[in-house]
Amino acid sequence: MSLTPRFPHFLHGGDYNPDQWLDHPDILERDVLLMEKAHVNAVSVGIFAWATLEPEEGQYNFTWLDEVNSRLKKHGVHMILATPSGARPAWMAEKYPEVLRVNDRFERAHFGGRHNHCPSSPVYRAKVQKIDRALAERYAGDENVILWHISNEFSGDCRCPLCQERFRTWLKDRYGTLDNLNRAWYTGFWSMGYTAWSQIEPPSPRGQMANLSLLLDWRRFSTWQCADFIAMERDTVKAVNPDLPVTANLMESFWDYDYFRLCEELDVVSWDCYPTWTGGDDADLAAYIGMNHDLMRSFRRQPFLLMESTPSLVNWKAVNKLKKPGMHLLSSLQAVAHGSNSVLYFQWRKGRGNAEMFHGAVVSHDGRDDTRVFGDVTEVGKALETLGDGLYASPVQQARVCILYDWSARWATEYSQVGLNGKMDYHGTALAHYRALWKMGIPVDFCDMRESTDLSSYSLVICPQLYLFMNGIEEKLRTFVANGGTLVMTCFSGISDATNLAFLADTPYRLTDVLGVRETELDALSPEECNHAAFTDGEVWRATGLCARPALEGAEVLAIYTDDFYAGLPAVTRNRFGKGEAWYLAARFDDDALLSLYARLSGSLKLPRALETDLPHGVTAHRRGKYVFVENYSGKTVTLSLPGTYEDALKGTDAGDTLTLAPCTVSVLLED
Ligand code: GAL
Repeated sequence: MSLTPRFPHFLHGGDYNPDQWLDHPDILERDVLLMEKAHVNAVSVGIFAWATLEPEEGQYNFTWLDEVNSRLKKHGVHMILATPSGARPAWMAEKYPEVLRVNDRFERAHFGGRHNHCPSSPVYRAKVQKIDRALAERYAGDENVILWHISNEFSGDCRCPLCQERFRTWLKDRYGTLDNLNRAWYTGFWSMGYTAWSQIEPPSPRGQMANLSLLLDWRRFSTWQCADFIAMERDTVKAVNPDLPVTANLMESFWDYDYFRLCEELDVVSWDCYPTWTGGDDADLAAYIGMNHDLMRSFRRQPFLLMESTPSLVNWKAVNKLKKPGMHLLSSLQAVAHGSNSVLYFQWRKGRGNAEMFHGAVVSHDGRDDTRVFGDVTEVGKALETLGDGLYASPVQQARVCILYDWSARWATEYSQVGLNGKMDYHGTALAHYRALWKMGIPVDFCDMRESTDLSSYSLVICPQLYLFMNGIEEKLRTFVANGGTLVMTCFSGISDATNLAFLADTPYRLTDVLGVRETELDALSPEECNHAAFTDGEVWRATGLCARPALEGAEVLAIYTDDFYAGLPAVTRNRFGKGEAWYLAARFDDDALLSLYARLSGSLKLPRALETDLPHGVTAHRRGKYVFVENYSGKTVTLSLPGTYEDALKGTDAGDTLTLAPCTVSVLLED
């Protein structure tokens, strides 16, 4: 599926800041020649260019951008055009302080930095709309412009009086009356009850942090604020040309907003990916990044764009590592394997000064094109051209496994004071389950608990620590199992409702008959403690962190705890329900255990794998149509036997029966 109809091909390029080089016309001329040489076909322009586009209030200057665009066009480079709302000019902050954000200590920011506007400010909204409209009127009809890049990496929230008022209005819409809100937030606790809407303030370390329902609703409100701001920008540019799609660049494992909800406002999902590859055993990191890619693909059930990645290193981590030879192609094609239709970088050229002057770039301060990085980037550009439109048109392999991953469940889990405070690790628990499937090259989708969620196309649904249930997810899970699906649910699931009030019932809520078990107590283990689950065939799984004590309600016991006062209690159970079955894992089990579980289920459910062969440690595989990406993150040379006849799609040669992969390499196999 094409994300950029004006240029329906893989995009290769990245953030380009010509506005920083207007006093160097020679560099601007040379840049486009270098882009052509590096097989670059798309760049993102204008992301932080507001001060250059509108140097004085109401005085727009588009001449430089016209010139940049026509120069790019001449060299076959398309433009992803940004709206500049990610950072604002000093004149605006000085004249209209309301555009600046108020932090969680209720202090207003001064001018500086970026990504720190107030999303409610009518002045800011009007200014953004005005410049967005002007940009759209000038460029949205230009065939060289292929996508809108709305703002940059939306994040955070504002607690100014305007935002507080919007929060109260949002709460009124949601709850109708204060009585309802007081009930939904359990405000009988610690004298929290509100008697007027005006008493409600956002969470703050100077104020209320103990009302967990407030914390949860504040996150939902912040999501709504951001979605509303995106929609405003989107509608402004689309009023001029409704056919030019919009994206906003998202971030990894992001906490602040519910991305499933946010992506409803976008045509195209894109994200910025900055792992620290070591070139040694990067298997866990690759699985973590793989999960992020699959989340991005899942938000809109369509391909996505890798909007930013570094061609070499970043400069904002404690240790900023160069990519080892091979890693650039491997990590770039990893994104493509998971469904990205681009490899884009931050940044095209290193700036001369300020915070990002030492951030990796395709072109460094020396302006040379004979560097290692320039070579690595060119190699990726050529690879994307070689793989070409055949791959571009190929969707990723249809997943029959779904992990339920929901931002409300995640927020509520992390806010709740229970078990391993600060280490309930919702995301990490989901990742542990994902990692086992990743190791086998089994494709995985993610779903959340929105009303629209439909589980019917899956064979296996996994609920890792789905603490909070909402929108009738328990009914969907019941129907899913009754109709023949297999459910895996872990401890600490189905405990609380949509506003984080405990269900006054057996848990997992309304699923104890489906699972044939109920959870009675949850224990937390210190880092040095562990427990074990023993199966009748002698297999033993190790449990750490969280162990629940369940009571049987008819399930078959597959494994029992062996240690401590749990000994003899069920640790792993399975229950037949309707045409399907439901597994319950009473504890947090380690990687070997999860691998064993999913190997077993993949066999019984005949889950498709990208490559029907055993993959060595650190190697995974992903499929798009007839293309199979085999990726080696083990840090070692590995060999595997190929289960069919393939061509090496990058080399154009017969792949043979055995594939040997050097460290940090990827092979793209084209099935016969
Ligand atoms: C991203 C950001 C870019 C650049 C990059 C550096 O988060 O969107 O503008 O700062 O990080 O790695």
